[in-house]
Amino acid sequence: MNPGARLVILGKQGAGKGTQAVRLSRHYVVPHVSTGDTFRAAVRSGSEFGKRAQKYLEAGELVPDEVVIGVVRERLTHDDTTHRGFVLDGFPRTVQQAEALMEIVVPQGLDVAIDLEIDTRVVLERLASRRVCSDCGANYSVSDNPPRVPGICDVCGGDVVQRDDDTEAAIRRRLELYDHETAPLVDWFDERGLLARMDGMGSPDQVTERLVTEIDRRKKFRPR
Ligand code: AP5
Ligand code: MG
Repeated sequence: MNPGARLVILGKQGAGKGTQAVRLSRHYVVPHVSTGDTFRAAVRSGSEFGKRAQKYLEAGELVPDEVVIGVVRERLTHDDTTHRGFVLDGFPRTVQQAEALMEIVVPQGLDVAIDLEIDTRVVLERLASRRVCSDCGANYSVSDNPPRVPGICDVCGGDVVQRDDDTEAAIRRRLELYDHETAPLVDWFDERGLLARMDGMGSPDQVTERLVTEIDRRKKFRPR
């Protein structure tokens, strides 16, 4: 294994971005930077920032670009990310965010932006089955990966619940926003020679193996 990687994971809601980002961050020993997890943690903390974020998350709306860009810019200036790299999960989601990211990551740039491709029918099934820990945010699926004790988190013992934005109305809105705002980023990264389109179907292990093979191939051509 060759540690260090500078990765973006794209994909519609339920494509498996979070699931794969956790695995890739362990594999390459780099921080997993998830804007969704950051906002959910802020909501749980009850901070002013969290209260402002909550209304966007529950409605499935995007948090304004300048807020998200500020959060990511701050995180990507820490030593761990500048030295070892990162797996970005849920960012960028608009062209404005992508343009800001490319400025933030100068001079090293990115290794690859992975688009996890998956049918909408499958994501709806996955989101209906998804459960998360209300304390630490660990991810489960009642059909494929349930907690060992129903309703209790394997990692921290917290309550395992459905996410507040996994309602029918918020899922519909998130998928609409994906089509309008985020899907164009696939071509945006492709035009810059940074895109890898990857099949998001199959077991989580099969998807990880596919991604690692592609990332390692790309890293070979981008010596740091
Ligand atoms: P975010 O948390 O990023 O949510 P999302 O984009 O809606 O994506 P999800 O987390 O729903 O899906 P995922 O692809 O991570 O799938 P997962 O791995 O969980 O964002 C939430 C909100 O925050 C946004 O709506 C917005 O308000 C705000 N926000 C965040 N970033 C922002 C930004 N950049 N700009 C503006 N606003 C922003 O998998 C889903 C389920 O499937 C799980 O149960 C999992 O166990 C299961 N599963 C995964 N892989 C497999 C597999 N291979 N086989 C079977 N089951 C699988
Ligand atoms: Mg996620």
